[in-house]
Amino acid sequence: MPELFTWEFATDPYPAYAWLREHSPVHRTVLPSGVEAWLVTRYADARQALADQRLSKDPAHHAGSAHAKGKTGIPGERKAELMTHLLNIDPPDHTRLRRLVSKAFTPRTVAEFAPRVQELTDQLIDAFVEKGEGTADLIHDVAFPLPIYAICDLLGVPREDQDDFRDWAGMMIRHGGGPRGGVARSVKKMRNYLAELIHRKREEPGEDLISGLIRASDHGEHLTENEAAAMAFILLFAGFETTVNLIGNGVYALLRNPEQRERLQRALAEGDTELLATGVEELLRYDGPVELATWRYATEPLTLGGQDIAAGDPVLVVLAAADRDPERFTEPDTLDLARRDNQHLGYGHGIHYCLGAPLARLEGQTAIATLLRRLPGLRLAVEPDDLRWRGGLIMRGLRTLPVEFGTEKK
Ligand code: HEM
Repeated sequence: MPELFTWEFATDPYPAYAWLREHSPVHRTVLPSGVEAWLVTRYADARQALADQRLSKDPAHHAGSAHAKGKTGIPGERKAELMTHLLNIDPPDHTRLRRLVSKAFTPRTVAEFAPRVQELTDQLIDAFVEKGEGTADLIHDVAFPLPIYAICDLLGVPREDQDDFRDWAGMMIRHGGGPRGGVARSVKKMRNYLAELIHRKREEPGEDLISGLIRASDHGEHLTENEAAAMAFILLFAGFETTVNLIGNGVYALLRNPEQRERLQRALAEGDTELLATGVEELLRYDGPVELATWRYATEPLTLGGQDIAAGDPVLVVLAAADRDPERFTEPDTLDLARRDNQHLGYGHGIHYCLGAPLARLEGQTAIATLLRRLPGLRLAVEPDDLRWRGGLIMRGLRTLPVEFGTEKK
Protein backbone atom coordinates (compact mmCIF):
# COMPACT_ATOMS: atom_id res chain seq x y z
CA MET A 1 0.00 0.00 0.00
CA PRO A 2 1.65 3.30 -1.09
CA GLU A 3 1.77 6.14 1.41
CA LEU A 4 -0.71 8.94 0.73
CA PHE A 5 -0.36 12.67 1.43
CA THR A 6 3.44 12.66 1.73
CA TRP A 7 5.77 15.04 -0.08
CA GLU A 8 6.49 12.41 -2.79
CA PHE A 9 2.75 11.85 -3.18
CA ALA A 10 2.15 15.59 -3.71
CA THR A 11 4.85 15.61 -6.41
CA ASP A 12 3.40 12.64 -8.32
CA PRO A 13 0.22 11.09 -6.89
CA TYR A 14 -0.55 9.05 -10.02
CA PRO A 15 1.27 5.78 -9.10
CA ALA A 16 -0.55 5.72 -5.74
CA TYR A 17 -3.87 6.36 -7.46
CA ALA A 18 -3.18 3.51 -9.93
CA TRP A 19 -2.61 1.21 -6.96
CA LEU A 20 -5.84 2.32 -5.26
CA ARG A 21 -7.89 1.94 -8.47
CA GLU A 22 -6.67 -1.60 -8.77
CA HIS A 23 -6.60 -2.82 -5.16
CA SER A 24 -8.93 -0.63 -3.11
CA PRO A 25 -11.10 1.47 -5.44
CA VAL A 26 -13.32 2.80 -2.63
CA HIS A 27 -10.75 3.26 0.10
CA ARG A 28 -11.15 4.42 3.68
CA THR A 29 -8.34 6.70 4.74
CA VAL A 30 -7.36 9.12 7.48
CA LEU A 31 -6.65 12.55 6.03
CA PRO A 32 -3.78 14.73 7.31
CA SER A 33 -6.42 16.68 9.28
CA GLY A 34 -7.32 13.48 11.19
CA VAL A 35 -10.75 13.23 9.54
CA GLU A 36 -11.67 9.82 8.05
CA ALA A 37 -13.09 9.72 4.54
CA TRP A 38 -13.67 7.39 1.58
CA LEU A 39 -11.56 7.96 -1.54
CA VAL A 40 -13.25 6.95 -4.82
CA THR A 41 -10.72 6.37 -7.61
CA ARG A 42 -12.36 4.45 -10.51
CA TYR A 43 -13.97 6.45 -13.33
CA ALA A 44 -17.32 4.59 -13.29
CA ASP A 45 -17.67 4.87 -9.49
CA ALA A 46 -16.53 8.50 -9.54
CA ARG A 47 -19.09 9.49 -12.17
CA GLN A 48 -21.82 7.67 -10.27
CA ALA A 49 -20.85 9.28 -6.94
CA LEU A 50 -20.75 12.81 -8.41
CA ALA A 51 -24.36 12.47 -9.59
CA ASP A 52 -25.73 10.41 -6.66
CA GLN A 53 -28.40 12.38 -4.80
CA ARG A 54 -27.82 10.22 -1.71
CA LEU A 55 -24.46 11.96 -1.38
CA SER A 56 -25.22 15.38 0.04
CA LYS A 57 -23.07 18.50 -0.21
CA ASP A 58 -24.54 19.87 3.02
CA PRO A 59 -21.98 19.60 5.86
CA ALA A 60 -24.87 19.10 8.31
CA HIS A 61 -24.98 15.49 7.07
CA HIS A 62 -21.45 14.77 8.26
CA ALA A 63 -21.43 12.40 11.22
CA GLY A 64 -17.93 13.60 12.20
CA SER A 65 -16.43 17.00 12.62
CA ALA A 66 -14.61 17.92 9.40
CA HIS A 67 -16.61 21.07 9.06
CA ALA A 68 -16.46 22.00 12.69
CA LYS A 69 -12.72 22.16 11.99
CA GLY A 70 -13.26 24.00 8.72
CA LYS A 71 -11.42 21.42 6.61
CA THR A 72 -13.38 21.78 3.42
CA GLY A 73 -10.56 23.40 1.49
CA ILE A 74 -12.23 26.80 1.31
CA PRO A 75 -10.54 29.13 3.79
CA GLY A 76 -12.87 31.13 5.96
CA GLU A 77 -15.99 29.31 4.92
CA ARG A 78 -16.91 28.62 8.52
CA LYS A 79 -18.21 32.15 8.45
CA ALA A 80 -21.94 31.54 8.28
CA GLU A 81 -22.76 34.22 5.77
CA LEU A 82 -20.48 32.68 3.15
CA MET A 83 -21.65 29.12 3.83
CA THR A 84 -24.76 29.13 1.67
CA HIS A 85 -22.96 28.75 -1.61
CA LEU A 86 -23.55 26.27 -4.40
CA LEU A 87 -20.94 23.75 -3.29
CA ASN A 88 -22.46 23.42 0.20
CA ILE A 89 -26.13 22.94 -0.57
CA ASP A 90 -28.55 20.42 -2.11
CA PRO A 91 -31.78 20.75 -4.09
CA PRO A 92 -34.16 22.50 -3.87
CA ASP A 93 -31.99 25.40 -2.56
CA HIS A 94 -29.19 24.51 -4.97
CA THR A 95 -31.60 24.44 -7.94
CA ARG A 96 -32.95 27.88 -7.07
CA LEU A 97 -29.55 29.54 -6.51
CA ARG A 98 -27.96 27.92 -9.56
CA ARG A 99 -30.85 29.01 -11.77
CA LEU A 100 -30.50 32.58 -10.54
CA VAL A 101 -26.74 32.77 -11.02
CA SER A 102 -26.98 31.10 -14.44
CA LYS A 103 -29.19 33.97 -15.59
CA ALA A 104 -26.40 36.45 -14.82
CA PHE A 105 -23.35 34.30 -15.68
CA THR A 106 -24.13 33.02 -19.16
CA PRO A 107 -21.83 31.58 -21.85
CA ARG A 108 -22.60 34.77 -23.78
CA THR A 109 -21.30 36.97 -20.91
CA VAL A 110 -18.09 34.95 -21.12
CA ALA A 111 -17.80 35.02 -24.93
CA GLU A 112 -18.12 38.82 -24.92
CA PHE A 113 -15.28 38.92 -22.43
CA ALA A 114 -12.77 37.21 -24.80
CA PRO A 115 -11.03 40.40 -26.06
CA ARG A 116 -10.43 41.56 -22.48
CA VAL A 117 -8.85 38.19 -21.53
CA GLN A 118 -6.55 38.48 -24.56
CA GLU A 119 -5.61 42.05 -23.63
CA LEU A 120 -4.88 41.06 -20.01
CA THR A 121 -2.74 38.11 -21.12
CA ASP A 122 -0.71 40.30 -23.50
CA GLN A 123 -0.17 42.95 -20.81
CA LEU A 124 1.07 40.34 -18.35
CA ILE A 125 3.48 38.87 -20.90
CA ASP A 126 4.66 42.38 -21.97
CA ALA A 127 5.50 43.17 -18.33
CA PHE A 128 8.08 40.40 -17.94
CA VAL A 129 9.37 40.48 -21.55
CA GLU A 130 10.08 44.20 -21.22
CA LYS A 131 12.39 43.53 -18.28
CA GLY A 132 14.71 41.99 -20.89
CA GLU A 133 15.96 39.21 -18.62
CA GLY A 134 14.61 36.37 -20.75
CA THR A 135 13.21 34.63 -17.67
CA ALA A 136 9.90 34.54 -15.82
CA ASP A 137 7.97 32.63 -13.19
CA LEU A 138 4.85 31.72 -15.10
CA ILE A 139 2.84 31.14 -11.92
CA HIS A 140 3.65 34.54 -10.44
CA ASP A 141 3.71 36.49 -13.71
CA VAL A 142 0.78 35.00 -15.67
CA ALA A 143 -1.16 32.10 -14.14
CA PHE A 144 -1.86 33.86 -10.83
CA PRO A 145 -2.74 37.42 -11.94
CA LEU A 146 -4.77 36.55 -15.07
CA PRO A 147 -7.74 34.83 -13.34
CA ILE A 148 -7.88 37.32 -10.48
CA TYR A 149 -7.99 40.36 -12.77
CA ALA A 150 -10.41 38.57 -15.10
CA ILE A 151 -12.90 37.67 -12.37
CA CYS A 152 -12.59 41.14 -10.79
CA ASP A 153 -13.43 42.72 -14.16
CA LEU A 154 -16.37 40.37 -14.65
CA LEU A 155 -17.74 40.95 -11.16
CA GLY A 156 -17.38 44.70 -11.56
CA VAL A 157 -14.58 45.39 -9.04
CA PRO A 158 -13.18 48.81 -10.09
CA ARG A 159 -9.66 48.63 -11.59
CA GLU A 160 -8.15 50.78 -8.81
CA ASP A 161 -9.21 48.16 -6.22
CA GLN A 162 -8.05 45.10 -8.15
CA ASP A 163 -4.50 45.06 -6.77
CA ASP A 164 -5.96 44.74 -3.26
CA PHE A 165 -7.85 41.68 -4.47
CA ARG A 166 -4.67 40.32 -5.96
CA ASP A 167 -2.94 40.63 -2.56
CA TRP A 168 -5.82 39.06 -0.60
CA ALA A 169 -6.11 36.20 -3.10
CA GLY A 170 -2.35 35.64 -2.96
CA MET A 171 -2.57 35.25 0.80
CA MET A 172 -5.47 32.82 0.47
CA ILE A 173 -3.61 30.39 -1.78
CA ARG A 174 -0.48 30.29 0.36
CA HIS A 175 -2.28 27.71 2.50
CA GLY A 176 -0.89 28.87 5.78
CA GLY A 177 2.54 29.76 4.36
CA GLY A 178 2.04 33.48 5.03
CA PRO A 179 1.98 35.48 8.25
CA ARG A 180 -0.15 34.10 11.12
CA GLY A 181 -3.82 34.87 10.73
CA GLY A 182 -3.09 36.22 7.24
CA VAL A 183 -5.59 33.97 5.47
CA ALA A 184 -8.43 34.77 7.88
CA ARG A 185 -7.65 38.48 7.63
CA SER A 186 -7.64 38.35 3.82
CA VAL A 187 -10.95 36.47 3.68
CA LYS A 188 -12.45 39.02 6.05
CA LYS A 189 -11.22 41.95 3.97
CA MET A 190 -12.55 40.35 0.82
CA ARG A 191 -15.89 39.61 2.44
CA ASN A 192 -16.30 43.15 3.74
CA TYR A 193 -15.28 44.60 0.41
CA LEU A 194 -17.77 42.42 -1.50
CA ALA A 195 -20.61 43.24 0.91
CA GLU A 196 -19.94 46.94 0.42
CA LEU A 197 -19.64 46.58 -3.35
CA ILE A 198 -22.98 44.75 -3.53
CA HIS A 199 -24.55 47.50 -1.51
CA ARG A 200 -23.13 50.12 -3.90
CA LYS A 201 -24.23 48.19 -7.02
CA ARG A 202 -27.75 48.00 -5.67
CA GLU A 203 -27.82 51.80 -5.61
CA GLU A 204 -25.99 52.23 -8.92
CA PRO A 205 -26.23 49.09 -11.05
CA GLY A 206 -23.91 48.57 -14.02
CA GLU A 207 -23.38 45.96 -16.72
CA ASP A 208 -21.25 43.73 -14.49
CA LEU A 209 -21.92 40.31 -12.96
CA ILE A 210 -22.66 41.61 -9.45
CA SER A 211 -25.33 43.94 -10.84
CA GLY A 212 -26.61 40.94 -12.84
CA LEU A 213 -26.77 38.82 -9.67
CA ILE A 214 -28.75 41.54 -7.90
CA ARG A 215 -31.11 41.93 -10.88
CA ALA A 216 -31.59 38.21 -11.56
CA SER A 217 -34.98 36.96 -10.54
CA ASP A 218 -36.81 33.70 -10.82
CA HIS A 219 -40.60 33.63 -10.46
CA GLY A 220 -40.29 37.00 -8.73
CA GLU A 221 -37.58 35.73 -6.34
CA HIS A 222 -34.25 37.52 -5.96
CA LEU A 223 -30.97 36.70 -4.21
CA THR A 224 -30.72 38.20 -0.75
CA GLU A 225 -27.67 40.43 -0.09
CA ASN A 226 -26.03 37.60 1.85
CA GLU A 227 -26.71 35.13 -0.94
CA ALA A 228 -25.29 37.54 -3.51
CA ALA A 229 -22.17 38.05 -1.36
CA ALA A 230 -21.73 34.27 -0.93
CA MET A 231 -22.20 33.82 -4.67
CA ALA A 232 -19.63 36.49 -5.56
CA PHE A 233 -17.22 34.90 -3.09
CA ILE A 234 -17.66 31.36 -4.46
CA LEU A 235 -17.27 32.60 -8.04
CA LEU A 236 -14.05 34.25 -7.01
CA PHE A 237 -12.82 31.36 -4.96
CA ALA A 238 -13.89 28.53 -7.29
CA GLY A 239 -12.68 30.41 -10.34
CA PHE A 240 -9.34 31.58 -9.11
CA GLU A 241 -6.93 28.90 -7.87
CA THR A 242 -8.42 26.37 -10.32
CA THR A 243 -7.54 28.56 -13.29
CA VAL A 244 -4.08 29.38 -11.88
CA ASN A 245 -3.42 25.65 -11.85
CA LEU A 246 -4.95 24.94 -15.25
CA ILE A 247 -2.42 27.35 -16.77
CA GLY A 248 0.48 26.21 -14.53
CA ASN A 249 -0.07 22.44 -14.78
CA GLY A 250 -0.97 22.79 -18.46
CA VAL A 251 2.15 24.70 -19.52
CA TYR A 252 4.29 22.36 -17.41
CA ALA A 253 2.80 19.27 -19.10
CA LEU A 254 3.48 20.82 -22.51
CA LEU A 255 7.10 21.60 -21.60
CA ARG A 256 7.57 17.98 -20.52
CA ASN A 257 6.03 16.65 -23.74
CA PRO A 258 7.92 18.48 -26.52
CA GLU A 259 6.37 16.62 -29.49
CA GLN A 260 2.88 17.49 -28.30
CA ARG A 261 3.85 21.09 -27.67
CA GLU A 262 5.47 21.42 -31.12
CA ARG A 263 2.37 19.97 -32.71
CA LEU A 264 0.22 22.54 -30.97
CA GLN A 265 2.62 25.35 -31.87
CA ARG A 266 2.48 24.30 -35.55
CA ALA A 267 -1.32 24.13 -35.50
CA LEU A 268 -1.56 27.60 -33.93
CA ALA A 269 0.89 29.04 -36.48
CA GLU A 270 -1.41 27.70 -39.24
CA GLY A 271 -4.43 29.33 -37.62
CA ASP A 272 -5.94 25.97 -36.61
CA THR A 273 -7.52 26.26 -33.14
CA GLU A 274 -9.14 22.83 -32.96
CA LEU A 275 -6.07 21.24 -31.38
CA LEU A 276 -6.03 24.06 -28.81
CA ALA A 277 -9.62 23.23 -27.80
CA THR A 278 -9.12 19.45 -27.55
CA GLY A 279 -5.65 20.05 -26.08
CA VAL A 280 -6.86 22.13 -23.13
CA GLU A 281 -9.46 19.44 -22.34
CA GLU A 282 -6.69 16.84 -22.45
CA LEU A 283 -4.50 18.94 -20.14
CA LEU A 284 -7.42 18.98 -17.68
CA ARG A 285 -7.71 15.21 -17.87
CA TYR A 286 -3.98 14.54 -17.75
CA ASP A 287 -3.07 16.75 -14.78
CA GLY A 288 -6.08 18.84 -13.85
CA PRO A 289 -6.29 21.56 -11.18
CA VAL A 290 -8.95 19.86 -9.02
CA GLU A 291 -7.41 16.67 -7.71
CA LEU A 292 -10.33 15.78 -5.43
CA ALA A 293 -13.91 16.96 -5.86
CA THR A 294 -15.30 18.82 -2.84
CA TRP A 295 -16.78 17.02 0.17
CA ARG A 296 -19.86 14.83 -0.05
CA TYR A 297 -21.67 12.99 2.79
CA ALA A 298 -23.79 9.84 2.66
CA THR A 299 -27.33 10.71 3.78
CA GLU A 300 -28.21 6.98 4.13
CA PRO A 301 -26.28 3.68 4.08
CA LEU A 302 -25.24 2.94 0.49
CA THR A 303 -22.97 0.72 -1.59
CA LEU A 304 -20.44 2.25 -3.97
CA GLY A 305 -18.07 0.13 -6.06
CA GLY A 306 -19.02 -2.88 -3.94
CA GLN A 307 -18.12 -1.06 -0.71
CA ASP A 308 -20.66 -0.36 2.05
CA ILE A 309 -20.68 3.24 3.20
CA ALA A 310 -22.45 4.28 6.41
CA ALA A 311 -24.79 7.26 6.70
CA GLY A 312 -22.81 10.38 7.69
CA ASP A 313 -19.53 9.16 6.16
CA PRO A 314 -17.60 11.70 4.05
CA VAL A 315 -16.87 10.66 0.45
CA LEU A 316 -14.13 12.30 -1.64
CA VAL A 317 -14.15 11.61 -5.37
CA VAL A 318 -10.58 11.60 -6.70
CA LEU A 319 -11.00 13.24 -10.10
CA ALA A 320 -7.28 12.92 -10.88
CA ALA A 321 -7.45 9.13 -10.38
CA ALA A 322 -10.70 8.65 -12.31
CA ASP A 323 -9.31 10.61 -15.26
CA ARG A 324 -6.37 8.19 -15.55
CA ASP A 325 -8.53 5.04 -15.37
CA PRO A 326 -7.43 2.60 -18.12
CA GLU A 327 -10.96 1.12 -18.11
CA ARG A 328 -12.16 4.44 -19.53
CA PHE A 329 -9.20 6.06 -21.35
CA THR A 330 -6.78 4.45 -23.82
CA GLU A 331 -3.18 4.91 -22.64
CA PRO A 332 -4.33 7.19 -19.80
CA ASP A 333 -0.80 8.18 -18.74
CA THR A 334 -0.01 9.56 -22.20
CA LEU A 335 -0.71 13.21 -23.06
CA ASP A 336 -2.53 13.23 -26.41
CA LEU A 337 -3.75 16.73 -27.27
CA ALA A 338 -5.90 15.37 -30.10
CA ARG A 339 -7.64 12.81 -27.86
CA ARG A 340 -11.24 12.12 -28.87
CA ASP A 341 -14.02 10.77 -26.67
CA ASN A 342 -12.45 12.64 -23.77
CA GLN A 343 -15.28 12.86 -21.25
CA HIS A 344 -12.99 13.71 -18.35
CA LEU A 345 -14.29 14.64 -14.90
CA GLY A 346 -12.00 17.65 -14.45
CA TYR A 347 -15.03 19.97 -14.22
CA GLY A 348 -17.05 17.48 -12.18
CA HIS A 349 -20.34 15.92 -13.27
CA GLY A 350 -24.03 16.16 -12.37
CA ILE A 351 -25.80 19.12 -10.81
CA HIS A 352 -22.59 20.64 -9.38
CA TYR A 353 -20.81 20.54 -12.77
CA CYS A 354 -18.52 23.57 -12.95
CA LEU A 355 -20.50 26.72 -13.54
CA GLY A 356 -17.39 28.56 -14.71
CA ALA A 357 -16.21 26.00 -17.31
CA PRO A 358 -16.71 28.40 -20.28
CA LEU A 359 -14.62 31.09 -18.52
CA ALA A 360 -11.96 28.56 -17.49
CA ARG A 361 -11.71 27.32 -21.10
CA LEU A 362 -11.44 30.89 -22.40
CA GLU A 363 -8.67 31.80 -19.94
CA GLY A 364 -6.80 28.50 -20.31
CA GLN A 365 -6.88 28.54 -24.11
CA THR A 366 -5.95 32.23 -24.35
CA ALA A 367 -3.04 31.98 -21.90
CA ILE A 368 -1.58 28.80 -23.38
CA ALA A 369 -1.95 29.87 -27.02
CA THR A 370 -0.50 33.34 -26.37
CA LEU A 371 2.48 32.00 -24.42
CA LEU A 372 3.31 29.46 -27.14
CA ARG A 373 2.83 31.99 -29.94
CA ARG A 374 4.79 34.85 -28.40
CA LEU A 375 7.50 32.83 -26.68
CA PRO A 376 8.28 29.97 -29.08
CA GLY A 377 11.57 29.17 -27.33
CA LEU A 378 9.91 28.65 -23.92
CA ARG A 379 11.69 26.07 -21.73
CA LEU A 380 11.93 25.07 -18.07
CA ALA A 381 14.63 26.99 -16.20
CA VAL A 382 15.04 24.31 -13.50
CA GLU A 383 15.06 20.52 -13.33
CA PRO A 384 11.56 19.05 -12.90
CA ASP A 385 12.70 17.54 -9.57
CA ASP A 386 13.37 21.02 -8.24
CA LEU A 387 9.77 22.13 -8.70
CA ARG A 388 7.52 22.16 -5.64
CA TRP A 389 3.81 21.36 -5.60
CA ARG A 390 1.35 22.97 -3.23
CA GLY A 391 0.24 20.63 -0.47
CA GLY A 392 -3.54 21.30 -0.40
CA LEU A 393 -6.01 18.41 -0.33
CA ILE A 394 -8.43 19.50 -3.05
CA MET A 395 -6.27 21.41 -5.53
CA ARG A 396 -3.17 20.33 -7.43
CA GLY A 397 -0.73 22.99 -8.60
CA LEU A 398 2.86 24.21 -8.71
CA ARG A 399 4.24 26.84 -6.35
CA THR A 400 6.46 28.31 -9.08
CA LEU A 401 7.17 27.60 -12.74
CA PRO A 402 10.51 29.24 -13.64
CA VAL A 403 11.07 29.43 -17.39
CA GLU A 404 13.53 30.84 -19.88
CA PHE A 405 12.60 32.05 -23.31
CA GLY A 406 14.76 33.13 -26.22
CA THR A 407 13.44 35.90 -28.39
CA GLU A 408 9.85 36.97 -28.41
CA LYS A 409 7.61 37.07 -31.48
CA LYS A 410 5.31 40.08 -31.69
C1 HEM B 1 -9.78 25.15 -14.93
C2 HEM B 1 -10.53 25.76 -14.10
C3 HEM B 1 -11.63 25.10 -13.32
C4 HEM B 1 -11.77 23.79 -12.93
C5 HEM B 1 -10.86 22.62 -13.23
C6 HEM B 1 -13.00 23.72 -12.17
C7 HEM B 1 -13.50 22.56 -11.61
C8 HEM B 1 -14.68 22.45 -10.93
C9 HEM B 1 -15.21 21.23 -10.37
C10 HEM B 1 -14.51 19.87 -10.42
C11 HEM B 1 -16.39 21.51 -9.80
C12 HEM B 1 -17.34 20.52 -9.10
C13 HEM B 1 -16.90 20.24 -7.69
C14 HEM B 1 -17.70 19.15 -7.03
O1 HEM B 1 -18.69 18.62 -7.58
O2 HEM B 1 -17.31 18.79 -5.90
C15 HEM B 1 -16.63 22.93 -9.98
C16 HEM B 1 -17.73 23.61 -9.52
C17 HEM B 1 -17.87 24.96 -9.61
N1 HEM B 1 -17.05 25.84 -10.30
FE1 HEM B 1 -15.38 25.39 -11.30
N2 HEM B 1 -13.55 24.96 -12.09
C18 HEM B 1 -12.76 25.83 -12.80
C19 HEM B 1 -12.98 27.17 -12.99
C20 HEM B 1 -14.06 27.86 -12.53
C21 HEM B 1 -14.34 29.26 -12.80
C22 HEM B 1 -13.47 30.17 -13.67
C23 HEM B 1 -15.48 29.57 -12.11
C24 HEM B 1 -16.23 30.88 -12.00
C25 HEM B 1 -15.78 32.02 -12.19
C26 HEM B 1 -15.92 28.36 -11.44
C27 HEM B 1 -17.05 28.28 -10.65
C28 HEM B 1 -17.55 27.11 -10.14
C29 HEM B 1 -18.75 27.05 -9.30
C30 HEM B 1 -19.61 28.24 -8.89
C31 HEM B 1 -18.94 25.71 -8.98
C32 HEM B 1 -20.08 25.13 -8.12
C33 HEM B 1 -21.21 24.71 -9.01
C34 HEM B 1 -22.35 24.05 -8.25
O3 HEM B 1 -22.16 23.58 -7.13
O4 HEM B 1 -23.46 24.04 -8.81
N3 HEM B 1 -15.06 27.35 -11.73
N4 HEM B 1 -15.57 23.49 -10.67
